Amino acid sequence: MLFLVLLWLVLPMPIPSEAANDPPKPHIIFILADDLGFNDVGFHGSAQIPTPNIDALAYSGIILNRYYVAPICTPSRSALMTGKYPIHTGMQHTVLYAAEPRGLPLKEKILPQYLNDLGYTSHISGKWHLGHWKLEYTPLFRGFSSHKNLWGLDMRNGTDVAYNLHGQYTTDVITKHSVSVIANHDAAKGPLFLYVAHAAGHSGNPYNPLPVPDDDVMKLDHILHYKRRRYAAMVAKMDESVGVIVDQLRKSNMLENSIIIFSSDNGGPAQGFNLNFASNYPLRGVKNTLWEGGVRAAGLVWSPLLEKRQRVVDETMHISDWLPTLIEAAGGIPALANANLSQSLDGMSIWQTLVHAYPSPRKTVLHNIDDIWGSAALTVGDWKMIQGTNYNGRWDGWYGPGGERDPHLYDWNLVLKSSSGKAMTGLKMLPSRADQQRLRETATVTCQGQSTQGTSCVATAFSAPCLFHVRDDPCEQFNLAEQYPKVLDLLVAELQHINSTAVPPSNQPDDPRASPMYFNYTWTNFGDYYGNIKGAVLGDISSKF
Ligand SMILES: *[C@@H]1O[C@H](CO)[C@@H](O)[C@H](O)[C@H]1NC(C)=O
Ligand SMILES: *[C@@H]1O[C@H](CO)[C@@H](O)[C@H](O)[C@H]1NC(C)=O
Ligand SMILES: *[C@@H]1O[C@H](CO)[C@@H](O)[C@H](O)[C@H]1NC(C)=O
Ligand SMILES: *[C@@H]1O[C@H](CO)[C@@H](O)[C@H](O)[C@H]1NC(C)=O
Repeated sequence: MLFLVLLWLVLPMPIPSEAANDPPKPHIIFILADDLGFNDVGFHGSAQIPTPNIDALAYSGIILNRYYVAPICTPSRSALMTGKYPIHTGMQHTVLYAAEPRGLPLKEKILPQYLNDLGYTSHISGKWHLGHWKLEYTPLFRGFSSHKNLWGLDMRNGTDVAYNLHGQYTTDVITKHSVSVIANHDAAKGPLFLYVAHAAGHSGNPYNPLPVPDDDVMKLDHILHYKRRRYAAMVAKMDESVGVIVDQLRKSNMLENSIIIFSSDNGGPAQGFNLNFASNYPLRGVKNTLWEGGVRAAGLVWSPLLEKRQRVVDETMHISDWLPTLIEAAGGIPALANANLSQSLDGMSIWQTLVHAYPSPRKTVLHNIDDIWGSAALTVGDWKMIQGTNYNGRWDGWYGPGGERDPHLYDWNLVLKSSSGKAMTGLKMLPSRADQQRLRETATVTCQGQSTQGTSCVATAFSAPCLFHVRDDPCEQFNLAEQYPKVLDLLVAELQHINSTAVPPSNQPDDPRASPMYFNYTWTNFGDYYGNIKGAVLGDISSKF
């Protein structure tokens, strides 16, 4: 409790500068799925996993059809929180492991801190994954007022180990906390920023890699592949959670002044990658590769503030854009105009693009530069270069399932009957069935069968770059490096320019002092116990250090 009390004292008070007749600032609900594939939501054309709540938001809001994230968890979350590419915060190489003595650098100001400056109260429900080796790296010390979190085998309630939550299904815990945050929010005192960071559909520990209640698995017996069916049930549970959250916003009279974002953190682990069975079909590659299947994510934004809704945006967007975009949506244009802030960010505000369908300022996306593994990729306009590979080419193919794309298999009534669908109908925002069909078709990626041009791209670590016209060839089948050497030269030069601004990766070897066996089998902020063993609540561990 001590930490919470201290935190309330340092929390900024809502800024009273808001003129009485300014419209109230929008509530922001950011729902991040873990390891969800591009083809694992209904609105991209697959009829396999029922995601009616997510789909209802997608059809009523904006489908982000060329929306890029980082290829893996920690880098993506770092970009979301800082508005910067992972190469600028040292987070570019794989994930942060639980025993590493590091975290997202403390000098970085992060999204909840910016929003708190604008009068928001911020809460996180779910996974952090940006460092916990010292308490000061954890969410309650970085702008969030409450936190329910999964740390490896561990759960936290605020900063306390949540022993009582052991054995509960994580998606349910995250949903319950989200609902209680919304229900307890007093909108008269200012807007809410709620970051819902699901652990689903990430795989779990090897003894039970696809944990989900059996009843939920049984509902999906049309999916013959058993592990795919379990993965689908995890995703379906998360979709229900989206419906529950939308419904609570409605009950709390907050929905009409909310911005809801749904996004995956990276591409899906398909065909047994990480013991999981997501699908990015027909995109190439999987999670933690720089192919489109690794970085082009399922994403949408919904809000009554968006004047041009019910559409598919084919302009490029990057996960680092959310920070300046949401600051602008929160009325924080002066903060953005601060030259120091806008110069140090890689993110660009695309709020006007979203609200009015104006052209997007975002033309270039750095997918990553990983000099340890020898891979890099960059998109400029319609062109993408990719060099090197992350698994010696083992995950550079195309993976199913993708066969269930018959539009007749998709259950449109589910969308209508879902909690989100009903809420959208109540707001008169759900488009007609015909318009939903049109949106879904537009957001469905198909591949050209063949091309007379191009070669296949066989990459090895540090190999020569391949070049793709990603707009015409989203499946990255036809390497045009030989046909368009000048285009490739331009992209290589741009990559080198961006690379010259990179900072070294911050990865550290595991610290044996982190071992949960010293801390009652929990993952904890082990760095705070160095040389100060009296502080440890868990018995005398001094002899171990
Ligand atoms: C989390 O802790 C708070 C304060 O101690 C308590 O009121 C709440 O019930 C706890 N939540 C859960 C889910 O255990
Ligand atoms: C910009 O950064 C410099 C150096 O960090 C600082 O001295 C200056 O006050 C900052 N300006 C603004 C407007 O924040
Ligand atoms: C980026 O710059 C570093 C340091 O100069 C260099 O070692 C590395 O090869 C460069 N990476 C790429 C992809 O150009
Ligand atoms: C250690 O963990 C058990 C549950 O595994 C819990 O009941 C107990 O309270 C914990 N001990 C301390 C000192 O936190």
